[in-house]
Amino acid sequence: MILKKLGQELGLTMKIKDNSTNIKTYSSYSHDKPGGINYQKEGFENLIAKHQAKIDYLKRFNLESDSKVLDIGCGFGSFGYCLLTQVLDSQGRYMGVDVSRRRIKQARQMMKQTGFNGQFEVIQNMNDCLQFKDINWITIFSVFTHIFNEDIINYLLIANQVLKHGGRLCFSILDIESREGLNYLNEMIKRSSRMRFKTEFYTIHSLDYIKSILRYSGFQLIDSSFLPPNIQRFCVAEKIDNKTELGNS
Ligand SMILES: C[S@@+](CC[C@H](N)C(=O)[O-])C[C@H]1O[C@@H](n2cnc3c(N)ncnc32)[C@H](O)[C@@H]1O
Repeated sequence: MILKKLGQELGLTMKIKDNSTNIKTYSSYSHDKPGGINYQKEGFENLIAKHQAKIDYLKRFNLESDSKVLDIGCGFGSFGYCLLTQVLDSQGRYMGVDVSRRRIKQARQMMKQTGFNGQFEVIQNMNDCLQFKDINWITIFSVFTHIFNEDIINYLLIANQVLKHGGRLCFSILDIESREGLNYLNEMIKRSSRMRFKTEFYTIHSLDYIKSILRYSGFQLIDSSFLPPNIQRFCVAEKIDNKTELGNS
């Protein structure tokens, strides 16, 4: 309610779904919008710092030097760069997928610059992920925060097909039950009113909903934690054999 009022005050269109915990704010949105992090400007060392907490977290759940990692919504591949410099050895591999042609182009440029060509591959079409074999980790960072629940479930189902038995998935969400999630959403709504390229929309979830769609798509949540800078909740799930209907826990 507070968010809806805030959205109205700022002149944003806001939709709150009655039948779920999913809140979406809509404004002009393009996956190919310019901007985002510029690694040439920021420097590679800063990228490592940005992802360090995620890397340490994944290591706690058996990310190994020979892991084959698929990164959905990889952006310009900064996480891939960090994995290849910090964790993966010559047996490990990083594959990224992103809907944005612009981001894929940037990722390929970075790949060339850093010399990781052989172990670093990025593609634009999600369905092409099915060609990847032996994936034991899937990462999806800051993506479920701004796509529709239908797409999230589809991605989880694809993740289940692509992952090896016992493979793991790590993704981040904005948690509706946390102060961190709500603070961030408030901040973004304010910021979007000042930006030329309006902030897309934000999807915010409850952990119960996440558990239910995970089980539906053949995963079991094994951990969830806030990582610095304490905005999103990170969830680790493992592929399991039994799927359930949506809503059953
Ligand atoms: C906020 S960025 C996060 C990038 C990267 N995962 C990271 O943590 O640095 C979100 C990325 O998700 C991509 N994206 C948005 N919708 C997507 C979708 N439906 N499928 C795949 N990627 C998507 C965007 O193009 C963008 O590169």
